[in-house]
Amino acid sequence: MVCVGMSTSATWVPVSSMALRMDGERLFILDQRRLPDEERWIDASNPRVMEDCIRTLAVRGAPLIGVAAALCLGLLVRGGCAPDAFRAAAALLRAARPTAVNLMAAIDRLLAAAAGDDLSHVASIALDVFLDDVARCDAMATHGAALVEDGTGVITHCNSGGLATVGVGTALGVIHRAHAQGKRVHVYVDETRPLLQGGRLTAWELRRLGIPHTLITDSMAAVILRAGRAQRVFVGSDRVARNGDFANKVGTYSLAVAAAHHRVPFHPVAPWTTIDLACADGDAIPIEQRDADEVRGAAGSFGSVRWCPRETEAFNPSFDVTPVALVTSLVTDRGVFSADELRSGVLSALAD
Ligand code: MRU
Repeated sequence: MVCVGMSTSATWVPVSSMALRMDGERLFILDQRRLPDEERWIDASNPRVMEDCIRTLAVRGAPLIGVAAALCLGLLVRGGCAPDAFRAAAALLRAARPTAVNLMAAIDRLLAAAAGDDLSHVASIALDVFLDDVARCDAMATHGAALVEDGTGVITHCNSGGLATVGVGTALGVIHRAHAQGKRVHVYVDETRPLLQGGRLTAWELRRLGIPHTLITDSMAAVILRAGRAQRVFVGSDRVARNGDFANKVGTYSLAVAAAHHRVPFHPVAPWTTIDLACADGDAIPIEQRDADEVRGAAGSFGSVRWCPRETEAFNPSFDVTPVALVTSLVTDRGVFSADELRSGVLSALAD
């Protein structure tokens, strides 16, 4: 569900999506920490509240955090803030999470618009960040759905749908579009340890969309592939390097290794705002390290539990890097690119 309030030529109009509502005066985000059991909205109009929501994953998903931060800054400017206050809020939000480059890209667009202390264009650029993501999701869905045949089993990891973007999504948008075209698809949803975005969020979205799916633990994906139950893998991305290596939720790399072993096509799906030409390859992508307690146990609307001694050392990189060698093709809003095209520099060649 994507709803744009009025004509797209207006500079500031209400907009809403599955996980975000901006009514012109205030910005609300759906608290994704409480899904699937509770749908609670948070007023995140204040940049400090928004920063906390991004850092704690109340609002999450690479494109969505970029849009949410941009609209928050748009509201701040509409409230008449001074250029210094705008830049301080932009710096705060820009540093909230390090891996998803969409966040930095969106804020940098606003900072560029405010060069010379003229803030008059910031709000309309912020609105454009929203509209741009809707259009990019739609284009990715169209390109990606062409790869899906009737009767396909698909594995996906983490959450890459309407809860991670303001449009139909990236990888989940492709699946959604294929389903809407009348193709029979069955989705195997990796639960996605440690924060369970697959089990809590993707299963919630697929149920609402009426798309057949089966929840599996991450370690079961190889069993599904070996049994021939999945013919393709679609995943999102938080940052794609110049050579096609990409970062996504931890567990994506092992899924790619298993898919390659079973010769099952593996496709990251990402908008152009996720591509970072400044990163030559995956080694240059900063990987967020999160609190070890996320691995020692789990917390959510169900309460909290710890399953190991409190003092147990735990490793918690939030993302991993999948090398382009394991990619069949990258689906973007500008088309689908094979691993060979990626290796030969197609992303730089198509840069604006
Ligand atoms: O830590 P999260 O939940 O923000 O991680 C999200 C992902 O890894 C998604 O796959 C990614 O943002 C791309 S999908 C739009």
